Amino acid sequence: MKVLVATEKPFAKVAVDGIRKEIEAAGFELALLEKYTDKAQLLDAVKDANAIIIRSDIVDAEVLDAAKELKIVVRAGAGYDNVDLAAATAHNVCVMNTPGQNSNAVAELALGMMVYAVRNFYNGTSGTELMGKKLGIHAYGNVGRNVARVAKGFGMEVYAYDAFCPKEVIEKDGVKALDSAEELYKTCQVVSLHIPATAETKNSINYALLKDMPKGAMLVNTARKEVINEAELIKLMEDRADFKYITDIMPAANAEFAEKFAGRYFSTPKKMGAQTAEANINAGIAAAQQIVGFLKDGCEKFRVNK
Ligand code: 3PG
Repeated sequence: MKVLVATEKPFAKVAVDGIRKEIEAAGFELALLEKYTDKAQLLDAVKDANAIIIRSDIVDAEVLDAAKELKIVVRAGAGYDNVDLAAATAHNVCVMNTPGQNSNAVAELALGMMVYAVRNFYNGTSGTELMGKKLGIHAYGNVGRNVARVAKGFGMEVYAYDAFCPKEVIEKDGVKALDSAEELYKTCQVVSLHIPATAETKNSINYALLKDMPKGAMLVNTARKEVINEAELIKLMEDRADFKYITDIMPAANAEFAEKFAGRYFSTPKKMGAQTAEANINAGIAAAQQIVGFLKDGCEKFRVNK
């Protein structure tokens, strides 16, 4: 059995070593396609792969057509909006993710970006502190929970809204659960986004939702760029000189944001949330173990295309 690691943005070497150990211990072969620049390279590499480990790499119908021997794709990470699930099901390919494995890394980055922003991007001027500020966590999954834990350490007042998580679960963590996204944005000066990109959430972070955020508002996005209605966010930031947008996923309109909103807009050049050795090891090795479990024992835990 051949397992391909196809990562345009590679894992840390120590994580690849760990993946190799798991795969070879199972008697399988490991192939690596890292830092590829062209889809043709991916189409060629998948030809004889029985399993693939990916990150944000796009696995669409064309990739699945090329991968004639493929049985399983594991997205080493949380969001699987980069995989065409319907096409995978049609090709009889199992798709899994590795929930929770990189969530602390993403949460730490969210808090790190908040500090960076309230300290005026370390430009030497007096900024403000996170302590005492109201933080709204939009979606209380694995990352949201970790953000709450770290934010409480900073002395923030933590609120959350999650359409699918019972309020009691949120409140058990000492976090105030609110009834709607509207209430969250009205209440909190800082909002940290942790919603997945789905048909329902795409473009959902819009002018109407953001306009009522308290003075000195800041939106922190370590989720997906697709959930933001960029045109409406630009309009809002034109109308509100106090509004900051800090993101780990560069918007399509990055140049416009950077030009118009200097001093209150920041984007990492490449998504950094899960770029730690620990997250790479956790997610990469979990992915390798899930592949071995699936190919050897038919274990379908964490399957997302039911
Ligand atoms: C995820 O969905 O797990 C995160 O967005 C990390 O994505 P990455 O592996 O592409 O950095």
